[in-house]
Amino acid sequence: MTGKLSAGDEAAPRHATLLGIGSYRASRVIPNAEIVDAIDSSDEWIQQRSGIKTRRWAAPDETVQSMAVGASRKAIEHAGIDIAQIDAIVVATVSHMFQTPAVATAIAHELGTDRPAAFDISAACAGFCHGVALASDMIRGGSAKHVLVIGVERLSDLTDVGDRGTAFIFADGAGAAVVGPSDEPGIGPVVWGSDGEQFDLIRQKEDWRDVLEQERPTMPHLVMQGNAVFRWAAFEMAKVAQQTLDKTGLKVDDLDVFVPHQANMRIIDAMARSMKLPEHVRIARDIADQGNSSAASIPLALDRMIAEGEAKSGDLALLIAFGAGLAYAAQVVRVP
Ligand code: UT7
Repeated sequence: MTGKLSAGDEAAPRHATLLGIGSYRASRVIPNAEIVDAIDSSDEWIQQRSGIKTRRWAAPDETVQSMAVGASRKAIEHAGIDIAQIDAIVVATVSHMFQTPAVATAIAHELGTDRPAAFDISAACAGFCHGVALASDMIRGGSAKHVLVIGVERLSDLTDVGDRGTAFIFADGAGAAVVGPSDEPGIGPVVWGSDGEQFDLIRQKEDWRDVLEQERPTMPHLVMQGNAVFRWAAFEMAKVAQQTLDKTGLKVDDLDVFVPHQANMRIIDAMARSMKLPEHVRIARDIADQGNSSAASIPLALDRMIAEGEAKSGDLALLIAFGAGLAYAAQVVRVP
């Protein structure tokens, strides 16, 4: 026991912030009318129960990798840094169809970065906020200076178009953020957790090995006990939102923007009501024409609010993401 471990980078920055954001919407616009026959539903039912009018599904050439690269290029441009400055890439996804290697490594290669740390994380719809929390801690811990966080999904591959409970919900797209050092805190403390007792409320239907044993193998689609998830999200996530504000030392009046995971318009409304969000807080409602794109939903929604002038640079935005697991994560960030 003679050696002494160095604690790492003593000069690591105290704070991290979002430097830039970018997104990529899958190109096919699928209206409710196009999917209702297969699930014996109606445009009216889908709009009333979920708020969704259309959803974005990927064209054949829009892969998890290509959509992620598209969003990342915009985020890096927005951040005003050189691609070579990215020294870690964290990709949140559940729809990259290879168990290994991580799609983050292929994205790094296509972006032309200089050998960054690159890995995927699996936290479903909560993945992007998990990635932002990791990036913030990596920067403040001195293990990376600029981290590219990507949320990307091609859920149309995992959706059974004949399943009434999910066919109308899921969607495709990508969002990315560059997280870097800052003089002031730009990312507040995360409140995150999971409720493993309910781990199977949203899940892949079967194990891949069981699929191969079937006479006519089919993709192991996503299945969801929607109503149970709905009740959990509407009640528990408003509490998590309040805990996040408390931990950050903010009141609801201090917020400018609220960007919840785009799961269901009724969940968004229920959370806004129970949090007693004041009128001035602008609320992301991207779900109406994007659908639920899981890990991509929050950066897609925030990027749209910036583009449409609803979120301005320096605004305080509460992000809250939740989904399969049941995993959740929330933090307040300064809009880049
Ligand atoms: O992103 C990850 C997190 N995911 C979520 O947060 C999703 C949360 N869940 C939801 O968004 C909602 O549960 C859904 C939108 C999926 C469903 O809405 P719901 O109000 O929970 O409907 P339900 O499943 O309780 O079904 C209500 C009724 C049932 O009929 P009865 O028993 O009342 O006669 C269903 O059979 O609606 C019927 N139904 C449908 N009718 C037309 C179920 N699915 C459909 C359908 N079209 N697609």
